[in-house]
Amino acid sequence: MLKGKCILVGITGGIAAYKICELIRMYKKNGADVKVICTPNAMNFVTKLTLQNLSQNEVYVQEFDVKEWKPEHISLADEADIMVIAPATANTISKIAQGIADNLLTSVACAFSKKIIIAPAMNCNMWNNETVQENIKKLQSKGVEILEPESGFLACGYLGKGRLCSLEKIFNETVEALSYSQKLAGKKVVITSGGTIEDIDPVRYISNYSSGKMGFALANVAKEMGAEVVLITTKPFEAPYKIVKVKSALDMQKAVEDEFETSDIVIMAAAVADYRVKNQAEQKMKKVAGVNETLTLELVQNPDILKCLCEKKIHQLVVGFCAESENLLENAKEKIAKKGCDYLIANDISRSDIGFSSDDNEVTILEKSGKIEKLEKASKKVIARKILEYIYE
Ligand code: PMT
Repeated sequence: MLKGKCILVGITGGIAAYKICELIRMYKKNGADVKVICTPNAMNFVTKLTLQNLSQNEVYVQEFDVKEWKPEHISLADEADIMVIAPATANTISKIAQGIADNLLTSVACAFSKKIIIAPAMNCNMWNNETVQENIKKLQSKGVEILEPESGFLACGYLGKGRLCSLEKIFNETVEALSYSQKLAGKKVVITSGGTIEDIDPVRYISNYSSGKMGFALANVAKEMGAEVVLITTKPFEAPYKIVKVKSALDMQKAVEDEFETSDIVIMAAAVADYRVKNQAEQKMKKVAGVNETLTLELVQNPDILKCLCEKKIHQLVVGFCAESENLLENAKEKIAKKGCDYLIANDISRSDIGFSSDDNEVTILEKSGKIEKLEKASKKVIARKILEYIYE
């Protein structure tokens, strides 16, 4: 699986460091060339000899132990295809986020231009620390993948979130990241996500349960496949591509139309409200006993953004999503014909383990030609990848 790939494993000073010996074995068994960099503190938890034997390579700790003309922090960064830092302490995470390069590991991370995966492990209060969380968000916005720690008993005696995620997760994410090809290089992909918000008055609104996760996963995968990505979303995401924050269906329509002409692929994963309030109140609506015991809101239809795009598309490939609580395939077939899109991704939102807000999804891809392909339940990231690969093929 990993033949021909060079993985740079960064180990920092946390008790979970001992687990990384097994991770190195997993990479090696799958054919990778593994190079290990440790912070000086990591050496309190694992020995250089163990790591050297497992990786079958020299283990790097000291910054100024220069043997060749090219400084190690540059040559190690150049040689590797991916950098995986596990366990990552709050200290190392915060330094990398701020561009501090005060040891070999942080210097290599600073010089590393390819994919970085970070698996944090620390005390739960450190994980919840506001500054640490800000630094995590900052790294995510730069495209660093953070594999969130798990909850449970921690080595420090606390019960909470902070335990290193499973080695299988780190391994699978590494394999997945390395298998991305730049299939969408040169393509502009516009994706919508989240539920639109239709104001009733300055206090209340009508919306839906969309978390934006499906669209965000699609945008991240499209970026990893080399696309120029624009994510039009109602949710506050941070990412290393253009994000346009919108609120209502009308805002979303304008934002999508602004990007449409220059786009190659448009994917409407957002849950767009079909109706908005006809007369939004400018001031907070008051309840008056005996006067307005009931309240009737008059709603008007929103434009169907997807349908409008399909009517004016030239070279663009337009993909819709379809959220159904019953008769999934029947309704999806009707919808693809009515909207006129090239593909429709149907998902069942009656289940709590897939669809709205969950981390997983299970979808059926419908093509204009009538072809149907079911994708089994998987994380939204895996589903996103399969959808984009399918469309590409
Ligand atoms: O955001 P998550 O929590 O991760 O959940 C993901 C999801 C369930 C929201 C997503 O997978 C999904 O199904 N999105 C589409 C939801 C939806 O609005 O479905 P629909 O069947 O009502 O609409 C069909 C298509 O028309 C959609 O592509 C929608 O974006 C589009 N539409 C709908 C109404 C409208 N006025 N304009 C539109 O463009």
